[in-house]
Amino acid sequence: MATLGVNIDHVATVRQARRTVEPDPVWAAAAAELAGADAITVHLREDRRHIQDRDLEVLRRTVQVKLNLESAIAPAMIDVACRVKPDQVTLVPEKREEVTTEGGLDVVTHHAATAAAIDRLRAAGIAVSLFLDAEARQIDAAVELGADAVELHTGQYANAATEAARHAELVTLARGAAMIRQAQLALAAGHGLTYRNVVPVARLEGMGELNIGHSIVARAVFVGMAEAVREMKRLIAS
Ligand code: PXP
Repeated sequence: MATLGVNIDHVATVRQARRTVEPDPVWAAAAAELAGADAITVHLREDRRHIQDRDLEVLRRTVQVKLNLESAIAPAMIDVACRVKPDQVTLVPEKREEVTTEGGLDVVTHHAATAAAIDRLRAAGIAVSLFLDAEARQIDAAVELGADAVELHTGQYANAATEAARHAELVTLARGAAMIRQAQLALAAGHGLTYRNVVPVARLEGMGELNIGHSIVARAVFVGMAEAVREMKRLIAS
């Protein structure tokens, strides 16, 4: 059964809307963990629009489950990761003008910069996952780069407008997942997953971890973080 990484970025988004102290993503992490989250994920963006350096530092001291940091490959961000030492860093593409991460990291084009980031993270004892589109050339490059894990980008699956398009995206994800399994890398998936669309992705053979943020935080506004996490865990196990 896949594990659940709860991304708490958007708890910080609500706080940053008023530049105040609440809601604190540290509280969200504790509530998620108590309800069964297997990992806590945060994305410290270069523009610091939601998670702040302080959040990451306090989370490093308080999170008892796996702490997964999403990070750009920029050297300044890798400096932060090497200093704070999360259990895992997931390397993602980042553009300042985007609302959210748009697509996987292109590790073919950014091969040298990705290799440099992986080397530094590995030397600091941090496992490295690469957030990729389910394309053979990207997965081949991840294997060659020596990543520990690949997180498949599920955004196109989540955004598919028709059932046929969604099925086609699922087939593409399944093909990518098979390549990752064959290369003996850990398999994860995430982005745009919701209570309505998560089950087929959770059932992909060998799925190890799902990273889910917006949908869980959105539900938590109404039912509380603990219940939102429990409901997602039940779906993943179904
Ligand atoms: N995985 C990665 C690599 C991401 O960048 C994000 C968004 O920060 C997520 C998962 C979670 O996406 P969502 O908030 O749509 O569940």
